[in-house]
This record gives sequence, C-alpha cells and structure tokens, in this order.
Amino acid sequence: MTPIETRAIGTSTARVDGPRKVAGTAPYAYEHPVPHPAYLVPFVSTIARGRIDRLDTAAAETVPGVLAVLTPWNAPRLTSEAEGEYVVLQNPDIAYRGQIVGAVVAESPEAAREACDLLTASYTAEPHDVDFRHDHPGAYTPEKVNGGYPPDTSRGDTDAAFAAADVVVDQWYSTPEEHNNPLEPHTVVALWSDDELTLYDSTQHPHGVVEALAPVLGLEPARMRVVCPYIGGGFGSKGGPHAHDVLAALAARAVPGRAVKFAVSRQDMFGYTGYRAPTVSRVRLAADRAGNLTGLVHEAYTQSSHVTEFVEQAAVSSRTLYDVPNLRTTHRAVTLDVPAPFWMRAPGEAPGMFAGEVAMDELAAACGIDPIELRIRNEPDADPESGRPWSSRRLVECLRDGAARFGWDPDDREPALRRHGRWLTGTGVAVATYPHMVNPGSEAVIRHKGAGRFTVRIGATDLGTGAWTALTLIAADALGCRAEDVHLEIGDSALPNGTVAGGSSGTSSWGTAIVAAAEEFRKRFGDNPDPGAEAAATAGENKELEHYRAQSFGAHFAEVHVDTDTGEIRVPRMFGMFSVGQVINPRTARSQFIGGMCFGISMALFEESIRDTRLGHVVNHDLAEYHVPTHADIRDVDAAWLDEADVRATPMGSRGVGEIGIVGSAAAVVNAVWHATGVRVRNLPVRLEELL
Ligand code: MOS
Repeated sequence: MTPIETRAIGTSTARVDGPRKVAGTAPYAYEHPVPHPAYLVPFVSTIARGRIDRLDTAAAETVPGVLAVLTPWNAPRLTSEAEGEYVVLQNPDIAYRGQIVGAVVAESPEAAREACDLLTASYTAEPHDVDFRHDHPGAYTPEKVNGGYPPDTSRGDTDAAFAAADVVVDQWYSTPEEHNNPLEPHTVVALWSDDELTLYDSTQHPHGVVEALAPVLGLEPARMRVVCPYIGGGFGSKGGPHAHDVLAALAARAVPGRAVKFAVSRQDMFGYTGYRAPTVSRVRLAADRAGNLTGLVHEAYTQSSHVTEFVEQAAVSSRTLYDVPNLRTTHRAVTLDVPAPFWMRAPGEAPGMFAGEVAMDELAAACGIDPIELRIRNEPDADPESGRPWSSRRLVECLRDGAARFGWDPDDREPALRRHGRWLTGTGVAVATYPHMVNPGSEAVIRHKGAGRFTVRIGATDLGTGAWTALTLIAADALGCRAEDVHLEIGDSALPNGTVAGGSSGTSSWGTAIVAAAEEFRKRFGDNPDPGAEAAATAGENKELEHYRAQSFGAHFAEVHVDTDTGEIRVPRMFGMFSVGQVINPRTARSQFIGGMCFGISMALFEESIRDTRLGHVVNHDLAEYHVPTHADIRDVDAAWLDEADVRATPMGSRGVGEIGIVGSAAAVVNAVWHATGVRVRNLPVRLEELL
C-alpha cells in the first residue's frame, strides 16, 4: 500500500463542526425541523416473560390530542423478514421486562405521556430467569461469539504446562452488566411520504439502518433514507437499529401525513437499546520462576437473550496478547429472559482484559517481578494465534516510555506500604490491545467545485468523536489541497455507502475510500481539473491484513489513593501511552484516549446495572443511581502516543483509536488499588467495604 503524504494529517485541528455545535445550529436527530410533528411515548411490559392478553386503551383514547394508540393487535404489520429486536408489536409474546408492548402518539409529548399512563395491561406471566451465574445449568457453547470469532481455541498442552509450572495463578474475575449512557439518548423522527420513509435517527450507521430495516418494513432500500449528521455519543449502542426505530416507523404509518418524534427516555435506555452483558472469567496462568508464561487458560462466561443471541467475546484478547505456547480459551453463554445485549465500548476486550490484566498483576506479585518487566518477558515476536507477523507491535515502547513519563518505580512494588496521613497510595499498570479493523465497501465521491475547492461525499457518521474533522484532513492530504478547501458531506444514507462507526473502524474504513477516490480523481483529471470534475471509488479489502496481524496497543498507568477510614478511592493521576499508527488529528485522538480512560475509571469504580431477579429489570435505571464519574472524580488524566505510521494498516498509516482507551484501564486502576492496600479486587466495580 502506498502511503499518502501527510501535511494536514497530524496537525492539531479544531473540530470543523465545532462552531455549528457551539452556535446550536447542528441539528441532532430529534431536533430536525419537520412540519407539524406528533410525539410518541411507548408502553413497556411489567413482566419479564409470558404474554400480554389485553391492553385497555379506552381511557387513553379520551385524552385530548391523542392520535393513535398502538397495541400488538392493531399495529401495522412487518414483513416475515422481521427477527429478534425488530419484531415490535407483532405478537403478544414478552421476552423481557421493559419490552415495548404498546405506544401512544399524540399532538404533544405531554398528552402522549398522560395517555400512556392511562393504559392498563393484563398479562399471563410465566416464570422468568434473569439470574446470571457462570455455573448456570443452561450454560452452552455458542457457534460463534461477537465479532465472528470461534468460541473455543487451543494450542499446545495446557494440562502438562500447569503440572510442570513453578508458579500458578488461578482466579475468577467478574464484570457486571453495564449500560451505555450517551448524553443524547436514542432518538428518532419518522416521516412517511408516498411510501417512502425518512428517519432522522441518532445512529452510528445510517446505511446499516436502511439495510436492516427496509426489508422488515417491506421497502426497497432506495425508498428509505436515514439522516444523521450529528450524534451525542453512542459508545456502540447506536451501532445498529433497535426496537425504537421500528416502533417510530410503524407509528408514523398509523398517523398518515405526520412525522413522529420519539426520544427514548433515560430509564428505557436500560431496556431495549443494548448494554454490556455481565461476564465471569476464570483465568489460569502457568509460569516458570522468571515469569515466562508456559500456560494460559481463559474461560469466559456471559449472558445472552432469547431475543437475539449476542455473546461478549471476553477471552479473545488472551489468544493473541502474550507469547504462551500452551493456551486454551472458551466462551459459554447463558440465555436469560433479558433484553438483547449489544456493543458497549470495546465489547469483549474491555471486560476480558480486565480479567487477564489483573491476573498478570497477580502473577507479577507471585513471581516477585515488576509487572512491566513481566509483560516485556512475554512479548511475542509474531502473532501467537495466527503465526503471522505484526504489522507493527511497539507495546514494549508504550510500557517503557509510559513508565518513564508516569514516573513508575520498579523498586517500590510491595503493597500496602505507602501511607500519607489517612491515605494509602499505590500505582498500577495494565496493557491494552484492540484489533485494527477496516470494513470494505465504503464509497467516496469527490467533485471539484472550482478554484481548487472540493466536495467530498460519504455516508460516514461522527459520534462526537471527530470524524468530521479527521475525514476533512484525510481528504485534504489525499487531494493535495488545504483542509479549508474541503467541503465534507457525511451523515446521510442518501450519500455514497458508509460502513459503521464501530469497532474503531470508522476513520480507517472511510479514510481508505476517500484516499482511493482522490487517487482516481487525480489519475483522471490531473492537477488542474475543470469545475464539476467528479470521481468515485469504493474501498476494497485491505489485502495486507491477510499477511499481517494488525492491532492497536497501549499501556495504562494509574495512581490510586485509598482512605483507610472510609475506603474512599481517588484516582489523582492516570496516564496512557498508545501505539495506534499515524494519529490523524491529535486534538480529537487525545480526547478519544482520555475519554476511554475515564470510561475505565468508571468501569473500575462506578458502573453497575443491578437487575432485580424477582422483577427482571434494572432497578438503578437512571443517572441518579447508575453511577458514572463526575468532574470531581476525574483528575489528571492524560494520554500520549508513539510517533509512527503503520503503512500496512491504512493508506493514512493509521490504526483505530476509538476503543483502545477503555481496554485495560480498569485493570490498571484495580492493580493500583492492590498496590495501595494489599487487597486484590477481582469483581467490578470495587466496593469500599472490600478495602476496609
Ligand atoms: Mo464500538 S462498542 O464497536 O461503537
């Protein structure tokens, strides 16, 4: 692959969409002006399994302004293509508490809510089971896990490795159910006109929403359009459509000529819009006295749903991270009466590497080796899973440079020794890896507007991460023009195909298409194109990735203070050193890294969705009770990265930066808690009482 010359790329650039956001002129999904909108409020089940027998709508229908009350019996029909989450109001069956079983559409949100409160349902409840345990009798081996990976792998002879080991770590680790809480909830505005459907939808993948829902709604894809120029976060939960998108489309059909606006409430976001399933991992490490790994077994357990199978791939990173000859990984899933789990930032890697990287810290302590040195000793020359060479693996530099910048002291590794008044202090380290993914199929169209100015059109989206700016910089360098001369259009399925803003693949995938289109443009029109000259290209597979294993890498360092009287935990300092290839825009990449690290602090200390086993729903379903860090919890968090380009990864030399910041970061915090207190925490989030 010929790398492009970087001029705009790598310069710290303010967001091109920043002024629009600050001025309030950037329309988010719910704000798109539509004439005379109607408003939808859903009615959700209060049982976790069974059926709804009757929904009494009489009182609701008398509320002034009510336009329609939808039930499983009167809602417009979907095609037989509808499966899983997309089957909305098509039958009376209930698969989880909080499932949509009705809806009111009214002239105002207030009228819709009032009418919804007047709906009364009668149910036939069946016994439900939402109690996730690794030893659940229903645990089974899925055919594949999230990401398409095989559930089980093995190499070598782990039994022999453990029998011969000098040192063994054998522990259980768990992460709880967690919910994506972007500031902007899932919102959608649905508008039919002449059998054509437009959705203004807060989504990470406009073309994906069309691909998924057009067949379900019985539409030719060309008759459906999804518009999404700005998003207030998603963290993966907006990576595909959920029940609310289908419901809005159905409801808008029931009130002809009206656009229907639907903002999912914060409480309902703990229902049908996706979440991270809980995980339990048993991690066994075998090593010689010097800390050289001889065996690794990672058995991961998680929960799936009757609605859609989704298996968090928690053991996948363990297959590739360290040089270990004897290895076995397994995934088991338990299907429960719960909503469908979905993507939440670094699904699989985030919970799985919490387990693996705490286990490595335990091994370091057991061997009496500095945890950085332990990881360096187990650094593989090539990918242990495929045998392929790395496109670039500079994890050791991340560890060494990061340690120097953080001020890591390898001679101060005894736990529970550092006391300052009431506070015990400690430091922890953990590494991060996340696959480099490039999705083929994105298409870019470039048009010369005249006077060296260009329009670049591609159906990409910007979650708030900086894609508007990153793609502008890429287009500028690919075309050899200034960033100011690029007019970018994204966020609309009417634009050329864009792949998902997920799996940290967005910039890599769309950028590859933009570079290909620019090459085509320059080949056809040279350096002096006429106004109106236009060229297009579609990104193919990255063939290099058949011969090389490409991953992003990082090392996290955390300092933790623990109050010996109250158990209060503070994280005054956290530093991440990353290797992600060429950074496109340092300003927004840094935000991605430190945002992920804050997510890791959150995962370590705060987040936990508590599912009531008797009722079946998440009881702490709002931001008052589902804790995320505030400014007072986040102190000095910083990130840096190696100056590099990975020419095999993308034509820009870049790899993904979106998710690696959260991977391993919770482990670094928990490892620092151990160093401070001597208490080894293996179940997230850390509870104060464990430290007293
Ligand atoms: Mo990411 S959880 O794949 O948006």
